[in-house]
Amino acid sequence: MSLLIKNGEIITADSRYVADIYCEGETITRIDRNLSVPAGAEVIDATGKFVFPGFIDPHVHIYLPFMGTFSKDTYETGSKAALVGGTTTLIEMCCPSRKDDALASFDLWMSQAVGKSACDFTFHMGVTKFADDTGAQLREIVRRGISSFKIFLAYKGAFGIDDTELYRTLKLAKELGVIVTAHCENETLVAERCRELLAAGKTDPGQHHESRPPAVEAEGVHHLMTFAEVTGAATYIVHLSCQEALDEAMAARRRGVRVAVETLIQYLTLDKTDAERGNFEGAKYVMSPPLRDARNQAVLWNGLRNGLIQTVATDHAPFDFQKQKPMGREDFTKIPNGIPSLEERINLLYTYGVKTGKIDLHKLVDVASTQVAKLFDLFPRKGTIQPGADADLVVFDPDYRGRISAKTQLMNVDYSAFEGWPVEGRPSVVTVRGAVAARDGKFTGTVGRGQFLRRSPSHF
Ligand code: URP
Ligand code: ZN
Ligand code: ZN
Repeated sequence: MSLLIKNGEIITADSRYVADIYCEGETITRIDRNLSVPAGAEVIDATGKFVFPGFIDPHVHIYLPFMGTFSKDTYETGSKAALVGGTTTLIEMCCPSRKDDALASFDLWMSQAVGKSACDFTFHMGVTKFADDTGAQLREIVRRGISSFKIFLAYKGAFGIDDTELYRTLKLAKELGVIVTAHCENETLVAERCRELLAAGKTDPGQHHESRPPAVEAEGVHHLMTFAEVTGAATYIVHLSCQEALDEAMAARRRGVRVAVETLIQYLTLDKTDAERGNFEGAKYVMSPPLRDARNQAVLWNGLRNGLIQTVATDHAPFDFQKQKPMGREDFTKIPNGIPSLEERINLLYTYGVKTGKIDLHKLVDVASTQVAKLFDLFPRKGTIQPGADADLVVFDPDYRGRISAKTQLMNVDYSAFEGWPVEGRPSVVTVRGAVAARDGKFTGTVGRGQFLRRSPSHF
C-alpha cells in the first residue's frame, strides 16, 4: 500500500509550504517537491487544498452510561463521523460508576472499541473512586498503555470523587508521570442550587446554567489547582467555559502549578441563550459546564490565540432529542448532559475561527492536533506531518460550501445543535495510517481497522 499526495499546501503548527507527501504502508516516508509517482501508488491531487495532520479529539464519550441512559454512538458510528470531519484519533473518557472497578471498566471500554473503530483511539482512565485496591489497578492500566487519568469534581453520587480520593489520585499520577484531566465544578454548590431552583418551580432547560454559574466552575478550578500545587501533579482542565475559570487556572500557572486548558467548540460558537430556547428546544443545548454568556467567546478565542488555552475538544456526548432529552421535560436536572459535535469540530473551527480571522491555520492545527498529541504522549507519531509519522492526513478543500444538518450527519443522534449553519471548507480526503478513510463527507474506510494507541507517561 502506498499513497502519494501531490501539490498540497502542507500546514503544520509551525510551517506552511507546497510539497508532495509519499506514504509507504502506514507511515510518511518522504516529503519533497515533484516526487515521481512510484509504480502502484495511489495518487491524490491536492492542488489548491491544504494538507493538515490528522486531527485528534482529546475529549469524547462514545460508550457512556450516564444519567439513567446511554449515549447514542458506538465506535462504528462515532469513528465514521469523526473521520468524515477530519478527526483521525479519538481520546475517549473511560467512565466507570463508583461501584465498578477500574480494571474491569478499562477492559469493558476497550471491548467497545477494539475491532469496531475505524479510526485510532486511546482512553483517559476515569478515576471515580479510590478504594484500597484502586492504586494497584491504575498501575496495571498504565502498564497497559494509558498515560492520562480523568476525574470529576462534579456529578455528586455518580462520577464525583471526594477530596481524599482527589489527593490520592494526584499523588499516584505524579509518581507515575500521568497527566490528570479534570471536570471542574463544585458539586455541592450545583446540588444545592438545583434543589432551590426546582423547589421554586423553575424546571425548564434554561435553568441549567442558573444552577452552575461561572463561580461554581471557578471554584472547581481553584480547588483542583490547590491539590495540584501540593502534590506537584500535571493537570489538564477539560471543557473550560468562562473567564472566571480561566483566571483561576492562569493564577495557578503563574505560581508554578502544572496546568493545561481545554475549551470546546460549543463554548466558542454557542451561548446560554441557546439553552433558553422555548418548546424544550433548549434541552439540545444542555451540557456541563453550561453554555455561558456570549461575552466569554472572545475570552476563549483570545485564550487560544495567545496560548493560555492549549486545545479545542468536543466532549461529544450524544443523546437523542426525541427520546432521551425528554427524561428531563419536567425537571432540567434530569436532562442527559451533552451537545454532540464530533463530526463538525474542524469545519466549525475553520469557518468560525480561521475564516473570521480569530485564529490562523497554524493555530487550528496546534489546538486540534499538535498540542493534543504532545500533552497526551502521542507526538510525533501523531500531531504533525514529517517522515516517520503515521500517515494520518487531512486534505482540506477550502472552496467547499455547505450547511450542517442532522439529515446528513453520520453521528448517531437525531439532532444537530448547529442545524442550518453554513460551513466554508471541509475535508476532501482523510487518511488513517496510509489508508483513505473518508472522501467529501462520505466514509470510505474500514470498520475495525482503528488501533489502540499505547502511550507511555511523560509528565514526571
Ligand atoms: O455535559 C457534558 N459535559 N456531558 C458529558 C459528561 C461530561 O461532563 O464530560
Ligand atoms: Zn465533564
Ligand atoms: Zn466529557
